[in-house]
Amino acid sequence: MAYMDWDDLSEQCRKCTACDLAKTRNNVVVGVGRPDAEILFVGEGPGEQEDLKGEPFVGRGGQLLDKMLAAVGLSRQHNIYIANIVKCRPPKNRDPLPDEQEACIHWLREQVSLIRPKIMVCLGRVAACRIISPDFKVTLQHGEFIKKGNILMMGTFHPAAILRNPNLKPDAFADYLALRDEIARVCEHTVLNWD
Ligand code: URA
Repeated sequence: MAYMDWDDLSEQCRKCTACDLAKTRNNVVVGVGRPDAEILFVGEGPGEQEDLKGEPFVGRGGQLLDKMLAAVGLSRQHNIYIANIVKCRPPKNRDPLPDEQEACIHWLREQVSLIRPKIMVCLGRVAACRIISPDFKVTLQHGEFIKKGNILMMGTFHPAAILRNPNLKPDAFADYLALRDEIARVCEHTVLNWD
């Protein structure tokens, strides 16, 4: 199905009952940021805080994500969009099941066709395996840019993984620096924001 515009997509997505996650959610977490962004970040699915607030990455992981983004001039307010593979919270923060991903992935596809990003960044294994390649290994392949269609794709560590293992921070930060270089190379109107 093709959605006429962003409001139409958000409205329809918020009403979705295509899988059982609809029964336990408080909010559908459609996404946040600038619909005209050239860079799209994708996580796996909302956690408790996100479900309560209706916005992606607002818990502790989200605060860390915002810090890493700010270090390279990016923010959800200014120059990126953030979405998830599934828009409703999986109970107890388990990984979204293949069926749930399958039922939900068309919303992300619609978001991609409206945003038309130049770069997509997959946060963690679930997003990278779904979007880049089913056998993606974050520990081995993080920070590598792969072109699929017209979009440059990169997988990096999920912020929650970095919170669990702070030794990952330097490698994660290197990925954000590499992202900044790719933005300079391929993006046309992205302005990095340093305040
Ligand atoms: N983890 C995710 O993958 N997405 C969110 O929105 C929050 C936590």
